[in-house]
Amino acid sequence: MDPKYKIDDTTNLFSPSIIIYRELVIANIEEMLRIAGAPERLRPHCKTHKMAEIAKLEIARGITRHKAATFAEVEMLADAGATDILLAYNPVGPNIGRTIAVRQKYPDMQFSVTADHPAALAQLAQAMAAAGQSVDVLVDINLGMNRTGLEINDEAFDLYRDIVERDGVTPGGLHLYDGHNQQVDVDERQAAVDATWGPTMAFRERLLAAGWPVPRLVCGGTPSFPVYAAKPEPGIECSPGTIVLNDSYYGRNFMDLNFTPAALILTRCVSRPGADLVTFDIGNKAVSADPDIGIRAFLPDLPEAVPKYHNEEHLLLQTKDAQRFAPGDETLVIPGHVCTSVSQHHEVYVADGGKIVGTWKVTARDRVLSI
Ligand SMILES: Cc1ncc(COP(=O)(O)O)c(C=O)c1O
Repeated sequence: MDPKYKIDDTTNLFSPSIIIYRELVIANIEEMLRIAGAPERLRPHCKTHKMAEIAKLEIARGITRHKAATFAEVEMLADAGATDILLAYNPVGPNIGRTIAVRQKYPDMQFSVTADHPAALAQLAQAMAAAGQSVDVLVDINLGMNRTGLEINDEAFDLYRDIVERDGVTPGGLHLYDGHNQQVDVDERQAAVDATWGPTMAFRERLLAAGWPVPRLVCGGTPSFPVYAAKPEPGIECSPGTIVLNDSYYGRNFMDLNFTPAALILTRCVSRPGADLVTFDIGNKAVSADPDIGIRAFLPDLPEAVPKYHNEEHLLLQTKDAQRFAPGDETLVIPGHVCTSVSQHHEVYVADGGKIVGTWKVTARDRVLSI
């Protein structure tokens, strides 16, 4: 095992459990700041860690702008001291009432949401205005991921005009997330981002020429982060999320990014059901099952092992090295997808200087805190 992951005494650590390596989280945040050039150019997404203590490490380094996907994440960030939060989600149904509740609970906080449909925007604006409140709204642009957003066209222009003209909402700029840009080749990734950047800049000029403010462009995730960070235009806020904890999928695919896995999962062998088989207590309730079975869990101690079954509480591996493990023996796993692995744990161990120094709550794993 890599010495940076060594823990002096693991005897009393439960498995499966996540260990957060605090120094590595800090190094990842500092590398993120270095690439961004300044804290104002960042709006990291907290959905990866969902923990107040990690948000505080970012805030302590001058990062005031943050991104969230749920109201629980918004509350966790606000309670941790974030003063500017973008909920990158379109409020609909009862979430419109929760938008009002956020403005009431944190009146001094800069709060914004996204929109991509005139009817949903109208409902939001009417409810905000009726409550005597207002919220910044960013138009969500579909850059090719086809998950949410409007293409750059008259419809998006008209929606922006709606935001300008309606009471209860104010224009917040553009939301430009490109989760489909996962090109392993860095030049191909750069080219893909550049291909949509020209039209995006022209669209921004069109909005400005209409006399409307475009205060921010919230751009990208981890893979495209260095590309957006290098752009000279004002108002860019990069919003990587995975970066702070990193995982084996990103580590394997984006070798140009110098981030270190900082959340590993401690697991123990519970059985050796065959000569070349070994079973660990890290089921799909401990490490996320959303990547393919072959890349869900990387064991640095058994890099060649082939996963055969992954059930709720068991991971069965086939490997010629199975005999190296007996029940009770432990190892560490680098999750394939760290965001959806962390969210399966209420609490994580925190390591510093090779020792476990405490635990942190994964506060925003719950859907509802107080709002
Ligand atoms: C809207 C939005 N912004 C930012 C991110 C962060 O991207 P990454 O996980 O690649 O850092 C995500 C990830 O899901 C996202 O959905």
